[in-house]
Order: sequence, then structure tokens, then C-alpha cells
Amino acid sequence: MSRLVAVSNRISIPKRGAAPGGLAVGLLTAIQARRGLWFGWDGETSEVAGSEPSIVRKDDVTYASIDFDKAEYYDFYLGFCNGTLWPLFHYFVDGFRYKDVQYEAYQRMNHRYAKHLAPLLEPDDIIWVHDYHLFPLAQRLREAGATQPMGLFLHIPFPNIEVLRVLPVYGELLQAMLAYDVLGFQTETDVQAFRSAVAYVWGEEALNADSSVTLGGRRVVTGVFPIGVDVDAIQREAVESQNTDACKRMVAGLLGRKLMIGVDRLDYSKGLVERFKAYEKFLETHPENQNRVSFLQIAPLSRTDVRAYSEIRRDLEQTTGRTNGRFADTDWTPIRYLNRNFPHDVLMGFMRSAQVGIVTPVRDGMNLVAKEFVAAQDPSDPGVLVLSTLAGAARELTGAIMVNPYDARGMAHAIQQAFNMPIAERRERHQAMNDVMRRNSITAWHTSFIETLESVVEPPKDFRLRFG
Ligand code: G6P
Repeated sequence: MSRLVAVSNRISIPKRGAAPGGLAVGLLTAIQARRGLWFGWDGETSEVAGSEPSIVRKDDVTYASIDFDKAEYYDFYLGFCNGTLWPLFHYFVDGFRYKDVQYEAYQRMNHRYAKHLAPLLEPDDIIWVHDYHLFPLAQRLREAGATQPMGLFLHIPFPNIEVLRVLPVYGELLQAMLAYDVLGFQTETDVQAFRSAVAYVWGEEALNADSSVTLGGRRVVTGVFPIGVDVDAIQREAVESQNTDACKRMVAGLLGRKLMIGVDRLDYSKGLVERFKAYEKFLETHPENQNRVSFLQIAPLSRTDVRAYSEIRRDLEQTTGRTNGRFADTDWTPIRYLNRNFPHDVLMGFMRSAQVGIVTPVRDGMNLVAKEFVAAQDPSDPGVLVLSTLAGAARELTGAIMVNPYDARGMAHAIQQAFNMPIAERRERHQAMNDVMRRNSITAWHTSFIETLESVVEPPKDFRLRFG
């Protein structure tokens, strides 16, 4: 079996007391099974970045991590990755910014990843790269002489070409993506968007009927690999953590009221302002719920040095303050809004205690929180998921109440419906979603991606001549 080398911008290095999230656990299982390597940023920033990766070995996994210097952090990570690609790929054309200097940092950083990774590679490795931070990595590794199969999985949406071509360097990035052997996406919509971009730049003749593309004699496989969760592991976590102090305190604080829960990184793509407004409308148009329900929104801060993120934080604080000021009672806070994170098992326990899970991004590649909420429920008395049609997860979780996150009235109505859904209907919807999630599990995700990657033929040795 070939060794698996996973590369992502940020890696989850084992630390005492810190439990990694579902995706990291899933990826780690795959790496572990192949005594593999995980390479990426350790999340630290220093004045001068270390010249060599730090290597840690634990449970059959080698972690190789690099840190960023200040310029890399600002121009690569916050700048091109999260100020340019993130908004554009989530269809925020207005919020997108482009600067040459940041794009240059992006290219330099991908060079640096390749420079540090290449010496760690073994001839029979397969290389699995994750996300938008690393589009040019395969190109750079090929230039360094690597001939191993390389795949990229994009966790976020791939935008339609009419949005993508707003980016001055879109052609270069598309070309860079074609240096991989396999390109994996979350949904069929993303694959189609990618194929339409290829057709726009190189013509329809580049598209093959079998969902691969051929350019300059090179075939690149594209496919849909919806990321999933481990339903049984989440059930166990959710059940066990109900006895923890954190869960008991949260439930005690409800004083018997029903609970709606949202868990999201504090990001403008998550539709939080719209969600808070919809909840305000719900309390206004269905006043019988006042002092009978509570909304717990957990929103750990993220990318705080990007202006759009500090702006959304301010907007949310205002909206929360207004709603609480308007409806709160001496013994009731309508919205409990927390900018902190909790261990994964505690979150699963919180979700199991909720009657409604609200996941309403204005755009999302998949959204694992939606899947986690369903997996955490008690099958005999499950909560109801209110889900945005603009999340990739909506393709699979058809048992959710679907909403348009911009439609406050529709969302208010959906929340009311969710809190009042009869048990038979709740069970039926939950069962249907659980069945899909068992099929498209986290194991199915990494197994099918790796199998596809292993099935590709070795890239031609003269690659550099055509793509360098
Ligand atoms: C999204 C991206 C990931 C990223 C994560 C956290 O899920 O797809 O690649 O790691 O957000 O973002 P951060 O910027 O904190 O790494």
C-alpha cells in the first residue's frame, strides 16, 4: 500500500487536551492506515519563519509543520487566500480584493511548501492536497521533479466562470489546477462550474465524456466526493457528553425552554446576521414563543485581522443587542451568543439537547455542522434541521426544512415549523438523512478519493517541459 502524504494549509498537531474536529479525525484515520505524513502550517507566526519543518511522530503519523513569517501571514494567508479567493469562491464579488503583491506571496508560499515537502517524499507516495491555499502546489512539486500521483480536494465551492473571471489571475490558477491528476469537489455543481471554466479557457474539446479533462495530452480526472461524518462516533460522543458538566450547565440554564442551536466559525459566508434577523422576526410574528425558546449561537472568532470579519462581528453584536434588548425578560435571554469554542464532544452533546439545529450559510462548500447535528440526535426523539439551500449539504440532507437564508419571513416560518413538527415526521426525516450520511461517510470520502488517486497512471516524466 502506498504511503499517503496529506498537505493542507493548517494541520492539526496532537496537543494534550486538544481534540481535533471531525474532518481532522477522518483525515488522520486515512493517514494512519497508510503510516503517512501530514504537512502544513502549525498556526504560528514569527518574525522569521523557521528554515526547516518541525517533525513530530505519533501513532503512525508523521506531522511536518512550518510556521509563517509576518509577511506570509498577512499577504498569503489573510491576503490572497482569505481576502481574495475565499470571498470570490463564495460569490462575494463586492467583498473581494486583489493585489499583485498578495498573489506573488501566494506563489512564493506554494514554492516554499514544495521546497520543504519535496525532500520528505518517497517514490511510491500518493499526495493528497487540500483546499484553495494550495492550487499551485502540484505545479511546484512537479518542477522539483516529483512524479507521484497528486490529487486536490476543494473544500469550498468552485464558482461559476462568470464570477471566477473577475480574478485577474484566474487563467493561471486554472492552469495550475491541471497539474494535479485528480480534482475532487464537494458537489456536482462545483464540478460543472470547474468544467465550464476549462471549456471557457481551452474550448469544449478539452472536456471528455467521462468527467475528465484533457489538455496538452494530459488527462485530469474530476469527481464529486461529498465530505461526510462518522455517524456512530458522533452518536457516542453526543450520548456520553450529556453527562459532562458543560452540557448539564447549559441544559440547566434553559430552565425547561426549548433550544435552537447554531455552531459556526464567525464568517460572513455563514449567514449569521440574516439568521439573527430571522430569529427576531420569528419572535415578533410568533409571539407565543417568547420566553419559551432559547437560541444558542456558538461562533468562535476566525481570521480576525481581515476587515470583513471584524465588520461582521460588529454587525452581529448590534443585532444580538437589539433583539435581546427588545424581547429579553428578567429570567430570559433570547439569544445566547458566544464567541468561544468548545471541545467537539461537548458540542455534540449540546446539539443532542437541541430541538432545532439552524445552519443557514449564504454559501458553503458542504457544511459539516449540518451533518453533525443530524448525527448527534436521539433517533427516537430527533431534533429538526433548518438548512440553507445554498449549502452543499442541502444536496444530501433533503430531510431538512430548506430555507433561503436571505428570506427572513420564510426562515421565521421554518423555525416555527421546526419547533412544532410532530414526532413521526421528525423520525422519518431524521432516518432518511442518517441513511444518506452512513452511505456518504467520512470513510467513504477518503476511501473513494484515495482509490481514484491510486488508479491514475503515473504522470509523464517530461511534465516540466509542458507545464513548468
Ligand atoms: C474552511 C476551509 C479550511 C480552513 C477552515 C478554517 O473550512 O475550507 O481550509 O482550514 O475553514 O479556516 P482557517 O483560516 O482558520 O484555517
